[in-house]
Amino acid sequence: MKGVILAGGTGSRLKPLTEITNKHLLPVNDRPMISWAIEALVLAGIDELMLVTGGTHAGEFLRLLGNGHAYGLERLLYAYQDKPGGIAEALGLAERFVGDDPVLVMLADNIVEYSIKEAVENFTKNPVGARIILTKAEGPEHLRHLGVPEVKNGKVVHIIEKPENPPSDYGVTGIYMYEASVFEIIKTLEPSGRGELEITDVNNHFIDKDMMAYDILEGFWGDAGESIDAYWKVNDFVRANGANKLRN
Ligand code: DAU
Repeated sequence: MKGVILAGGTGSRLKPLTEITNKHLLPVNDRPMISWAIEALVLAGIDELMLVTGGTHAGEFLRLLGNGHAYGLERLLYAYQDKPGGIAEALGLAERFVGDDPVLVMLADNIVEYSIKEAVENFTKNPVGARIILTKAEGPEHLRHLGVPEVKNGKVVHIIEKPENPPSDYGVTGIYMYEASVFEIIKTLEPSGRGELEITDVNNHFIDKDMMAYDILEGFWGDAGESIDAYWKVNDFVRANGANKLRN
């Protein structure tokens, strides 16, 4: 299984912090944010990774991460996204790197308390279609910032991106697993109202084909890019409790 970490975008919700650097280079506790996503994937068994980024600070990732060996990676490749055209567009840049393999994708501003190893193993046992990771989210105000699944009889039947009226209490985390056909789906997408190729549209394609599975995350999950408050909440949490912890 290959890994892809997405670290492009504008980071506009964290301005002015992101005027002078890429969001994913900002500190979370004792290291740059991106390091936590890399650790999450390495602990889940990934040793070949592509990092997609863009904007004016792309070179800093190279300086920080180099060839990835110090992070436990065998191979680390980079792709450059010309403009922030959406999460699905950024993932599309990894097509040739991923080839025919299944792929684990993580948004570089997501942080988890516990390792995602088990969910990834659930997918590698049967790497068909797609698998997402859900988190129980508190209150409609928070859910309105996320993709929210409608769940019926234990199945995700649809995902709504940033819903006015959230159809459940679950948020879709920025951790996704796909078979290689995901790249064919991305090519069929049209830009959304906010002018982006949406990962939620990709996920709804798999749901419509009845090829979507999910796990529910235990413990803390945070999107450090959601707002300055969320950024500090994630920082406080990781400082007190750590992240990517392995359970016995
Ligand atoms: O964090 C979970 C949420 O992430 C999900 O619940 C939503 O369904 C999903 O759409 C996404 O929502 P966000 O509004 O948080 O996405 P955002 O635009 O902040 O992008 C998240 C990350 O994706 C960002 O940290 C870097 C990467 N990205 C984003 C865009 C728009 C790219 O690499 N390139 C891009 O063009």
